[in-house]
Amino acid sequence: MSKPPFQVENDAASRVTRAWVLHPDIKSDPNRRLADHGLAEAISLARALPELEVVGGDIVPLKTVRAGMLFGTGKIDELHDALEERDIELVLVDGPVSPVQQRNLEKAWGVKVLDRTGLILEIFSDRAATREGVLQVEMAALSYQRTRLVRAWTHLERQRGGLGFVGGPGETQIEADRRAIDEQLVRLRRQLDKVVKTRALHRAARAKVPYPIVALVGYTNAGKSTLFNRLTGADVMAKDMLFATLDPTMRRVQLPDGPEVILSDTVGFISDLPTELVASFRATLEEVLAADVICHVRDISHPETEEQSEDVREIMASLGVPEDRPSYEIWNKLDLMSEEAADAMRARADRDDNVFAISALTGEGIDALLGAVTGEIQGTKRETRLHLTFSEGKKRAWLFDQDLVTTETQTEDGFDIVVRWTAQQEGRYVRL
Ligand code: GTP
Repeated sequence: MSKPPFQVENDAASRVTRAWVLHPDIKSDPNRRLADHGLAEAISLARALPELEVVGGDIVPLKTVRAGMLFGTGKIDELHDALEERDIELVLVDGPVSPVQQRNLEKAWGVKVLDRTGLILEIFSDRAATREGVLQVEMAALSYQRTRLVRAWTHLERQRGGLGFVGGPGETQIEADRRAIDEQLVRLRRQLDKVVKTRALHRAARAKVPYPIVALVGYTNAGKSTLFNRLTGADVMAKDMLFATLDPTMRRVQLPDGPEVILSDTVGFISDLPTELVASFRATLEEVLAADVICHVRDISHPETEEQSEDVREIMASLGVPEDRPSYEIWNKLDLMSEEAADAMRARADRDDNVFAISALTGEGIDALLGAVTGEIQGTKRETRLHLTFSEGKKRAWLFDQDLVTTETQTEDGFDIVVRWTAQQEGRYVRL
């Protein structure tokens, strides 16, 4: 490790824990990715935690994973010296580390070790802004900890007054046994249920003003928040910091020459998202399930854009987003490509109605995208079953006047009516 491929500037004196990132490049791993980019992403992830001073990182080539120590003994010794030399206190391993491996590595190196899931949990905990988000992360973190029950972060906690989710009620959990964790989980689940119920009420209230929902989804750092800002003029945090968006951000937007919609920005996806979080964040992403149009924003300039896109698709499928939901692919960051490569992207996008090549930064391609979304929203017709009482003759007349009724059956107190309409027509009906 004499010459690490990455040397990150020590940019903040306030960062108290000196961290080093290791990206195991496992030759036998069928899902192996480009090691350079894997390490770069892991370093970006680590930098998302303001309490860490990420000194740098290193790729560790591995033929196979060693059960007890992850790495071979020679490598362990070599890393020991390098870590000591750099005064490292925390090693972030970009991949899964079993509790046994974690303990052994910590002993061998005299540092704290955190794996990818642990790191992502920390970031989520740091970013969660709503009560619901905080509770969900706390639960995911506890479920993760439950399987380890090692005092993984006590050292850090002393050093830094606690990382996000071990603050507050979580703090005692580091010391707690499995039973106490279970009790805590039950308590959190109860609180969460309450928050979710309140949220459902708010959503129901909003549903009465049925603006169609357009959801932006995408891999972390793809440019969702930047596009969101461009479309709404809102000052949503857009930083070159992963997971700048955790809780969905929603804004009402008037589409040019079109209807009003709710645009929702969502948490960035990432490969190897801890399963605990996929489950916990269902609710956070439920706006996506309810969306009328899904815009999948991709950083088309990234060398692993295909893999990232596949990750996003997999997570969407696991969340239960129907495949036939109208969706667009937004190929973002055209401006970062060579003119030749960008031209090729534009040409490919031109051939596919569902693909838009844009730059959220320069604004290129935004108008065409907005035009398509407007067309989609205005053109998508859904079937809805209504019951109108005899006293609601005015509404019934409006439905017939607009030629929206497919079938009508008279009942004892009125009419059962099936209509086919666009979201915009539905909106007008509700406001009658
Ligand atoms: P998460 O919150 O992690 O999910 O990220 P995000 O998808 O919301 O990405 P964000 O909008 O925060 O953008 C990430 C970085 O990419 C920022 O530094 C943006 O300035 C940059 N970026 C976004 N769109 C473009 C673009 O079209 N061109 C260029 N050059 N940079 C862009």
